[in-house]
Amino acid sequence: MNFNLSEEHKMIRDAARDFAQNELLPGVIERDEKQHFPDELVKKMGDLGFLGIMVDPKYGGSGMDTISYVLIMEELSKIDASASVIVSVNNSLVCYGLEAYGTEEQKQKYLTKLATGEFVGAFCLSEPEAGSDATSQKTTAIDKGDHYILNGTKNWITNGGRADVYLVIAQTDRDKGSHGINVFIVEKGMEGFHIGPKENKLGIRGSDTHTLQFNDVKVPKENRIGDDGSGFRFAMKTLSGGRIGIAAQALGIASGAYELALKYSKERKAFGTEICNHQAIAFKLADMYSDIEAARYLVMRAAWDKDQGANYDVSSAVAKLQASKTAMQHTTEAVQIFGGNGFVKDYHVERLMRDAKITQIYEGTSEIQKIVISRSITKN
Ligand code: CAA
Repeated sequence: MNFNLSEEHKMIRDAARDFAQNELLPGVIERDEKQHFPDELVKKMGDLGFLGIMVDPKYGGSGMDTISYVLIMEELSKIDASASVIVSVNNSLVCYGLEAYGTEEQKQKYLTKLATGEFVGAFCLSEPEAGSDATSQKTTAIDKGDHYILNGTKNWITNGGRADVYLVIAQTDRDKGSHGINVFIVEKGMEGFHIGPKENKLGIRGSDTHTLQFNDVKVPKENRIGDDGSGFRFAMKTLSGGRIGIAAQALGIASGAYELALKYSKERKAFGTEICNHQAIAFKLADMYSDIEAARYLVMRAAWDKDQGANYDVSSAVAKLQASKTAMQHTTEAVQIFGGNGFVKDYHVERLMRDAKITQIYEGTSEIQKIVISRSITKN
């Protein structure tokens, strides 16, 4: 066992930290208020290799490992979780799925652009009546020989307006249940594909979330990823990796709030001393520190499992469950430490508290993570 980061990992973490401080921090409050994330910032993240972190360099990626991915995710999320969800979805749900299961033609056509940030991707699984219950897909894709006809609605889609490439999960044979589901590459602009208005959200407000409508969209057969009927397993496997990214996002949100609260507690005075000298505050900081350390080891463990080629379905669920709980609990405590100032946007912690909530919901709610974990531990 080695708990130390390599020199290379430290350099990657520091590069992400510099980018977050210099490029993401300016304007983060305004982006949250206006619900906007500029294309130039996405391009800069692409130029730094943050949009294809784990993709093989032969497809334009950075060829880094999952540990590097979570280090980058943590640093970006400390400052701007709207930026990091763009990175997370593009890396773990779109690039990973294409690289692991796509054909060489699909990789050349789409992955090479997604890995560099020339394209942005979206992952379309959730539906009005199929969020947690992902097998109950109502979207259909009917096989018409050389193409499929796609019909249905997808909800809460991250990068929904911004994306160029959408991986859409749809039912091709209802009688086969989860084995009658496939995943398709849909391009923006295909006839019959409509993007609904942007959702007005509690948190990660810079990230664009949309409902998508597919009305008789003609999808060429070569746009199906993987063998016929493999779409549900594709979704589950990509989501296991995605949960590592969201766990790292939650970790970053929690540690961002902790760092701000610690600094503030050493400056703010009450009852004749800095508030960190009051046990009521010091114990909060101790709880924050230890829970965040615990979450960090779980996130690293899941990333390490993936890098080792071990199964990471459970370790990613554990990491996401714990890190998102830590994020929600300790961003709330950070607001409490800031007192009245914590309720004011200028101090950042209220935004981190709002951003934390989604980490307990997307890419599988905390309750879904408990299903994954409990099924595994009670199986034998
Ligand atoms: N890897 C491979 N195969 C898997 C798998 C995995 N991790 N998990 C399940 N499967 C397989 C099962 O083995 C089973 O196959 P067989 O029929 O051959 O045995 C098949 O898939 C069906 O599995 P289950 O019977 O376990 O299916 P279920 O209906 O009970 O559902 C679930 C399982 C874990 C609850 C699943 O539905 C789930 O994860 N739901 C949550 C979905 C989710 O995370 N949604 C988030 C939306 S995406 C998002 O948020 C993106 C964004 O924009 C940020």
